[in-house]
Amino acid sequence: MRIEGAHHRSIGLWEDGWAVKVLDQRLLPWEVRWVRLETLDHACAAIADMWVRGAPLIGITAAYGLALALREDASDAALEAASARLSATRPTAINLRWALDRMRAALDPLAPGLRVAAAYARAGELGDEDEALCAAIGGHGLEVLRTLAATRPPGSVLNILTHCNAGWLATVDWGTALAPIYRAHDAGLKLHVWVDETRPRNQGALLTAFELASHGVPHTVISDNAGGLLMQRGQVDAVIVGTDRVAANGDVCNKVGTYLKALAAHDTGVPFYVALPYSTFDPACPDGASIPIEERSGTEQSTLTGPVLEPDLGLEPGRPPRQATVRLTGSPVANPAFDITPARLISAYITERGVGGLEVLRG
Ligand code: MRU
Repeated sequence: MRIEGAHHRSIGLWEDGWAVKVLDQRLLPWEVRWVRLETLDHACAAIADMWVRGAPLIGITAAYGLALALREDASDAALEAASARLSATRPTAINLRWALDRMRAALDPLAPGLRVAAAYARAGELGDEDEALCAAIGGHGLEVLRTLAATRPPGSVLNILTHCNAGWLATVDWGTALAPIYRAHDAGLKLHVWVDETRPRNQGALLTAFELASHGVPHTVISDNAGGLLMQRGQVDAVIVGTDRVAANGDVCNKVGTYLKALAAHDTGVPFYVALPYSTFDPACPDGASIPIEERSGTEQSTLTGPVLEPDLGLEPGRPPRQATVRLTGSPVANPAFDITPARLISAYITERGVGGLEVLRG
């Protein structure tokens, strides 16, 4: 991933080799602040309060969180308790459990004295694997976009719509839904991305737009309700989204609002792609209705936070802008964070194995 021209990964270790280094994504794009996670409490807070978010990155953060916990106590009981706490931080993305299961498979058989080094090593391997999976998704997705571009008049711009943030900020690097876009842009395909703002936390307007700008990809932020009109007008060539969990029957759970985009895409004949690594497929979950949907705080829905617009005379140059929170409603609110898109609305899944139907998920 590129930030101010330099290459980074979304998660890693600080120079001391043990504290975990992540971006506080709550501050983006207004401030780029890397933070230290030093304890299990830090890791749990980082996931639950969404300093880090996005299914694959949540999983890798949990893996490192387990390593941090074991530094304090590497006994069987502590390992069990730390896994349970990390697992409970967010309910929907299956990658969290996937990563913890892999960590436990490596750590449970070991004597406590060997567990800390093994935990860091395994977390590092899972992070490397995630980066490789996303790079492969990008390669397969590039071919999808090339094929689409070949059906359009020469020189025309391919318009892609995406929802939420499924880019490098949601993974270790590259992203899932955005990886094909980065690969296509780097390969010289003319692209433009419609970025759903993604209420209530605005991951599209804040994070996806930041990523695309950092990579030099032309894009436009739209309100969540604009996509249907753009599709009716022929201004969207494809929709690509990420996912937090895909059930055995192919139903897709992703950020709330995804389903409505899939319905509009189906109605207007726009192809609708879901990009994911195998770590997001949950064969034990029979269908979308069985996936737990996270209900987040109503404050996310009833307020908005951002930089104040009036000149902030008190600030030193280079200091981040002053933020303010305003109220949108005083009425009762509900905030389901994800929804389910039935498999029948999905044109194809883009995975590290290739592009296709349920067979590419099942491997
Ligand atoms: O609540 P968030 O920001 O963690 O939700 C993220 C999404 O819904 C992403 O689309 C999904 O995790 C896929 S990330 C590659």
